Amino acid sequence: MIEKITRVISTDDVLRISELHKKNYPDGHLTKYFSKSFLSVYYSYFLHRGCTLVVDRNLDGEIDGFVLAGKNLADLIREFKKDFKLLIIKESLLNIRQALQSFLLKFKSLLTSSKSIDEAEFLILSIVSDDNTKGVGSRVISALISESAGQDLGLYVKVSNIKAINFYLRHGFSIKNYISGQFYMELSGIV
Ligand SMILES: CC(C)(COP(=O)(O)OP(=O)(O)OC[C@H]1O[C@@H](n2cnc3c(N)ncnc32)[C@H](O)[C@@H]1OP(=O)(O)O)[C@@H](O)C(=O)NCCC(=O)NCCS
Repeated sequence: MIEKITRVISTDDVLRISELHKKNYPDGHLTKYFSKSFLSVYYSYFLHRGCTLVVDRNLDGEIDGFVLAGKNLADLIREFKKDFKLLIIKESLLNIRQALQSFLLKFKSLLTSSKSIDEAEFLILSIVSDDNTKGVGSRVISALISESAGQDLGLYVKVSNIKAINFYLRHGFSIKNYISGQFYMELSGIV
């Protein structure tokens, strides 16, 4: 069952989406190594700042997948990193290899690129579906696309995340740009 949630979400639901993120996000993504409690802080932060959450629940009422998107996301991510700098460093140090890789990638992008991407106002922060349930990703993204009708919808995806790239292509997104190991993909809101 598809449900759109803005702002209000129970603690159990926040914990469930954090659990899905931790379990299913691909290796190599820094947030995969965040603890479940820190991911709860992360999701609560964006939900309390007007982002849109679409969830898919199974017959038991448990969330099987979700997508979180919002406006001015780049600013919100910057603010989150500033507000939680120490916690992010602490969490990253628990996976030093991954933290080092992210740092090197960031450093390389500072040296090699001054390019800034012309991105859509409405961006997807994350989308996750439980591995065991088929079609959940399609259901939540279709609901988000209807919700954001008329607006361009953008997202960043690691170039190595072939499954997600194919998924976005299937849903009408196209690759618009490349920056620091990630594709910027967009779906035009013009119908
Ligand atoms: C990217 C992601 C959200 C896509 O979600 P998804 O649920 O796997 O995508 P779909 O809805 O297309 O479903 C996938 C499969 O179910 C099948 N399917 C879709 N609807 C179905 C239905 N109603 N009944 C049966 N099967 C169905 C699809 O054909 C596809 O099959 P395949 O994997 O054999 O090709 C998911 O792979 C994921 O959570 N990845 C980890 C997190 C991640 O990388 N997020 C993106 C970060 S940028």
